Amino acid sequence: MQPALDTLGRPLANLRISVTDRCNLRCAYCMPEEEYRWLPKEHLLRFEELARLVRVFTALGVRKVRLTGGEPLLRHDLHELVRQLAGIRALEDIALTTNGLLLAEQADALADAGLHRITVSLDTLREDVFETLTRRQGLAKVLAGIDAAAGRWPGRVKLDMVVMRGTNEGELLALLDFARERSLELRFIEYMDVGGATRWSPTAVVSRAEILATIAARHGEIEPLAEHSSAPAERFRLRDGTVFGIIASTTAPFCSRCDRARLTADGMWYLCLYARLGLDLRELLRAGATDESIAARLRTTWTARADRGAEQRLEELARGPLVGLDALRRDPHLEMHTRGG
Ligand code: GTP
Ligand code: 5AD
Ligand code: SF4
Repeated sequence: MQPALDTLGRPLANLRISVTDRCNLRCAYCMPEEEYRWLPKEHLLRFEELARLVRVFTALGVRKVRLTGGEPLLRHDLHELVRQLAGIRALEDIALTTNGLLLAEQADALADAGLHRITVSLDTLREDVFETLTRRQGLAKVLAGIDAAAGRWPGRVKLDMVVMRGTNEGELLALLDFARERSLELRFIEYMDVGGATRWSPTAVVSRAEILATIAARHGEIEPLAEHSSAPAERFRLRDGTVFGIIASTTAPFCSRCDRARLTADGMWYLCLYARLGLDLRELLRAGATDESIAARLRTTWTARADRGAEQRLEELARGPLVGLDALRRDPHLEMHTRGG
């Protein structure tokens, strides 16, 4: 079958699957509120349903899957899903994004099941900042999780740091040292105005330009690595060979290269991180649709895609949080933790 292309000529290659909307942290950039409305349990897709959908998605061109959440390791027996996905021949890459709290105890099962690589969120190395930022304790567990990952996926572990002014921007260099000492690739992420980031403001964003200036002041010349890829991170090299990335989704969006879509734990399919409307695949699955009819729906939907959410946000003059609290309460699918961080 021909790979599907959208109205801007972008293929569908990359599917991010949020396996649960629950999380065991409350990061300020993602879940700053006290209370949340959770997806009903019976709506969550079972592993068999997820694996079946992924198989159908590969017919349209999907080659990479990333499991996210919420916190994906809260989903009971996640390694079982990984095992089912690892059995899908057309898939070239199965990755996971986690906050690391439960990673030390699950790394072996996930690696044995066939998980290819892993990204751990690490925004600070200070226990006090960790507590302020996440409203929970647990930095030591996260660090143990990173060690376990480095042992099981050598050369295939990344660290993601969301940089927020007034919170952790003073730790850019410390995190770079931490990653360098362990040969892990660190990515600095600009704070984004996604749904759920209800405290977002332009002044809290530490831009790519600022991040590069801070690093250059300490490490000297930074060489941009010329790469042609659809990945959101631009990569750079220091004189000593250390490679790091910057994901500048806020100040320099990469929508023109975006080959990804998202599936929520309850089977809603979103074509953009910022999309208001999605396609309900749970309904299709549970109404008894065949693989062929699901593939046909996916194809018509993707070929009509014109989304460039982050670029449109850039055109906004008075930029503030994407959606208000009322809208988030009415539809939790608008939350980043529901549609996959
Ligand atoms: P690889 O390059 O395959 O390792 O993955 P990745 O960089 O896509 O993975 P990761 O899950 O670590 O994503 C890192 C960050 O990029 C996310 O946390 C978001 O801040 C940002 N990001 C991911 N997907 C999108 C997207 O679809 N649109 C935009 N604008 N930003 C995204
Ligand atoms: N801005 C940037 N990245 C975010 N994430 C969640 N919310 C935001 C936001 N507002 C991403 C981070 C985090 C992952 C789970 O989701 O990379 O590590
Ligand atoms: Fe893709 Fe939408 Fe993110 Fe742009 S904002 S990169 S179109 S998901």
